[in-house]
Amino acid sequence: MIKKGRHSEVVIYSDFVIKKFKAYLYSNFLKEKTALNKLKKYNFVPQIIESIEKELIIKMEKVEGIELRIIIKNSNDTKFLLNIFKIIFKICFILDIEGIYKDEWNRPFKHVIINDKTIKIIDFDRCLICSEKKNLPQFLSFVFNFFNLYKDYKQTLIEYIQFLEKQISAYKTFGKP
Ligand SMILES: Nc1ncnc2c1ncn2[C@@H]1O[C@H](COP(=O)(O)OP(=O)(O)O)[C@@H](O)[C@H]1O
Ligand SMILES: [Mg+2]
Repeated sequence: MIKKGRHSEVVIYSDFVIKKFKAYLYSNFLKEKTALNKLKKYNFVPQIIESIEKELIIKMEKVEGIELRIIIKNSNDTKFLLNIFKIIFKICFILDIEGIYKDEWNRPFKHVIINDKTIKIIDFDRCLICSEKKNLPQFLSFVFNFFNLYKDYKQTLIEYIQFLEKQISAYKTFGKP
């Protein structure tokens, strides 16, 4: 099966996938390769198997499950959704510690894939390797908007984000002289 992404073509085999970037998108290839390599110690990203620079190809683990957008569309169970969001909060926290800003958390619908064992995040080709921009605030804003909380709890959200920023920097420097 072949899926056409905005920047690539993804060929799905029985137990891996091959993402081939469009010819002029070397920097997208490089970003995804760097992010997947940096994050390979975590099981919330597809494990990178191989990358071929001159063909702009990344071979990686096939992620199976249901996209978040389908769960959101079909579930009226707020508690269930909140449990999923809570796991994504943890993933965003780790991404912030690792200094990989995925962006796109304001539209997390197709990049979060859920099955009965794991939640995985795909598509890192637009990420920024930097520590200034944070995933968690962006995803928290999405969740607050999603539950229509944004207006009433804007100040709470801002304070919580400031608290998290301190936590993230504390974890980042943990163990370093
Ligand atoms: N590791 C993977 N496992 C399973 N399906 C994948 C994987 N990576 C991508 N896909 C599928 O291919 C589609 C396009 O991939 P994506 O990384 O979003 O491409 P692009 O960056 O070009 O938009 C995804 O929406 C998903 O359906
Ligand atoms: Mg992409």
